[in-house]
Amino acid sequence: MYAQMIKTDSDRVKDLSEMSPEDRAFQERIDRGEKIEPKEYMPEGYRKTLIRQIGQHAHSEIVGQLPEGNWITRAPTLERKAILLAKVQDEAGHGLYLYCAAETLGVSRDELIGLLHSGKMKYSSIFNYPTLTWADIGAVGWLVDGAAIMNQVPLQRTSFGPYSRAMVRICKEESFHQRQGYDIMIKMAQGTPEQKAMAQDALNRFWYPSLMMFGPSDKESVHSAQSMAWKIKINTNDELRQKFVDQTVPQAKYLGLTVPDEHLVWNEEKQGHDFSEPDWTEFFEVLAGNGPCNKERLAARVKAWDDGAWFHDGLTVYAKKAETRRARQPLAAE
Ligand SMILES: [Fe+2]
Ligand SMILES: [Fe+2]
Repeated sequence: MYAQMIKTDSDRVKDLSEMSPEDRAFQERIDRGEKIEPKEYMPEGYRKTLIRQIGQHAHSEIVGQLPEGNWITRAPTLERKAILLAKVQDEAGHGLYLYCAAETLGVSRDELIGLLHSGKMKYSSIFNYPTLTWADIGAVGWLVDGAAIMNQVPLQRTSFGPYSRAMVRICKEESFHQRQGYDIMIKMAQGTPEQKAMAQDALNRFWYPSLMMFGPSDKESVHSAQSMAWKIKINTNDELRQKFVDQTVPQAKYLGLTVPDEHLVWNEEKQGHDFSEPDWTEFFEVLAGNGPCNKERLAARVKAWDDGAWFHDGLTVYAKKAETRRARQPLAAE
């Protein structure tokens, strides 16, 4: 998989002089900072890359409800329950805006969901890790939504109009998600020694999977270079990971928790932290379907879809009947 992403001489980003006139005009629009709208010309590669990226993003929002949904009934107070419920519901909304954005590119929601269910399309590998304790819900909000914000804020400036507009609302909600997670961490870290230990344990388990959320270093990736030229991607994975570490380390300190990295140190010269890379073998294993919860997550989504089949069928029949009724009605007199 990774090998396919390595840049080769024959497989590189074209420059303007090598492009067809349509593609050149398209690239020039992007370079001027214009937004591309659904009915306008776009190269097939741009359309396909966006369908993959927006589709995976939508799937991640939907599958991402599972590890937290798991805790709604077990949240420690009614207030925490209501907050978590609202957060998980927001994620469903994010999934829906994104499926709609993908649909403007000529792919149906059913097709995308079919690809997810058959394992042909991925979602973020972070959601294949279990949430074992209430502190994990804190760590997920703080770190996972935190990493998501880091990724998504620049995407508000992405070149495809519907994706960029969906990101504006999503980012607002994500900051609420991150705060609710950090708030849980504060309570736990300031609680009993057992609660503080739970908070530390959650940080230990979610730290490296959160760093993996930015993807492997993209220096050698031709996909990344092309996506950046198209402004589908604005920053490199390494830039975003660095920003995330620099933002999160002081927050961990404030909690009185230790980031599980003995090589973590402030580097005065680069004005950022030096830190250990996550275990990329683990990342590719999880991506390949062998993480702790991959099978469980996919099975839950497929079951939800199958259990809701009667409802989709009912809606489809109702929509057809309504259409026939409309077609039979005489047009209103002018
Ligand atoms: Fe979200
Ligand atoms: Fe979120």
